[in-house]
Amino acid sequence: MTPHASLPRLFGDAFATDPEPAYRALRTAGPVAWAEIAPGVYALVVTDHRAAVDLLTDPDTYSKDSRRWAALTAGQVPPDSPVLALMAHRPNLLYADGPEHRRLRGALEDCLARIDTHRLREITRVHAGNLIEHLAPAGHAELMAQFADVLPLLVFADLLGCPPSLAARMVDACHGIINADLGAQRAAADFAACLGELVHLKKTSPGPDLSSWLLDHPHGLNDTEVVDQLFCTVGAGTIPTAAWIASGLELLLHDHTYAGNLTAGSVTVRRALEQVLWTRSPMANFSVHFARHDTHLHRVPVPAGVPVLISHAATGTDPALPTGLGHDNRSHLAWSAGPHRCPATSQAGAIAQAALETLLDRLWDLRPTGAPAPNRPGPFHQCPAALHVAFRPRQADNAAPAHSATRIGGTA
Ligand code: HEM
Repeated sequence: MTPHASLPRLFGDAFATDPEPAYRALRTAGPVAWAEIAPGVYALVVTDHRAAVDLLTDPDTYSKDSRRWAALTAGQVPPDSPVLALMAHRPNLLYADGPEHRRLRGALEDCLARIDTHRLREITRVHAGNLIEHLAPAGHAELMAQFADVLPLLVFADLLGCPPSLAARMVDACHGIINADLGAQRAAADFAACLGELVHLKKTSPGPDLSSWLLDHPHGLNDTEVVDQLFCTVGAGTIPTAAWIASGLELLLHDHTYAGNLTAGSVTVRRALEQVLWTRSPMANFSVHFARHDTHLHRVPVPAGVPVLISHAATGTDPALPTGLGHDNRSHLAWSAGPHRCPATSQAGAIAQAALETLLDRLWDLRPTGAPAPNRPGPFHQCPAALHVAFRPRQADNAAPAHSATRIGGTA
């Protein structure tokens, strides 16, 4: 089969309002099927859970290196296509295979392991508290823009050991990237420049932070490699964590199983976050792979050079899954699987849980205003485009400074 005009579309208003019809059409076409993922951009998408695991755990057949993308090399992908931001090759672990991937990922995993989870929760609570202080007097807020999108960026600025002035610039640049508007390319360049300055700074005055640890790691990454891995880590970390927080909150506010139970504490929050990983995977369609040679996946032809995406979202709601699995079962693919499985699941969980607990603790009378919004546009991320809420206005207390250079680990 080759791509044609009537393929399911993983972009546009209809997909943002309700992605399920597109996933149903893909499932009907097979365990892996063609979709249009942006105007004029075609890919195979895996919706079957078993087929997805088989692909993700077969690096001998499937590569992550998008320089193998035949349509891109042939100039058939529009040069301003929004999917290029995440699919075009960059020299970081996400696009690396084999020994090079193990070298880069090993270094990052060792550094992530040095983050003290207790401190990470504390940093998140402080930043969440400051954001809430800021919006509390109004009595209403749009929590996607005013809370979920910003909080992970503030936490990452601390994880990276950013001094306050650089942190503010980095947060602005990342915001530009997230909004994916016309300034997105300039914002990405600004962000890379901030990371370059940060690495330069950390070489002369290291601290107990991810940037210094990565520079100092025995795998011997050079300065440019450190900037590239940090770029990937912040991009891969902040946007899905924001989506996870937002979808968790939306579930707590709108789903009758949770609604009215907002003060029930951490068990309720944890349960909602686990459910999101099955039913509204923050990475909706990602884990882009390329067959190294023409092959078959569960009897479907997979030509070399074609991007194959895993639908983390559709595999979580695959009707062929055994019934009664329960949302606390961890066999979902929201974190992916195989060598590129997310290396930061516990850190992401600490941030998301502390974020929601702080919000519900401070604004316990939070209520949604209006029906749930459609999703953000685009194939990769799944989260509400907006989260309008109202609550009793609170007077601001004295908040801590917005960008505190908080320690995240033991020693430099
Ligand atoms: C602290 C927050 C996070 C950090 C630092 C982080 C970091 C990363 C990094 C560096 C990778 C690339 C791994 C590799 O290629 O070997 C990755 C992959 C991935 N992450 Fe995360 N992540 C975070 C949160 C999340 C969240 C909340 C989700 C969704 C629930 C998520 C889903 C994924 C997925 C699906 C992949 C696989 C991507 C692929 O194969 O192309 N991550 N993450």
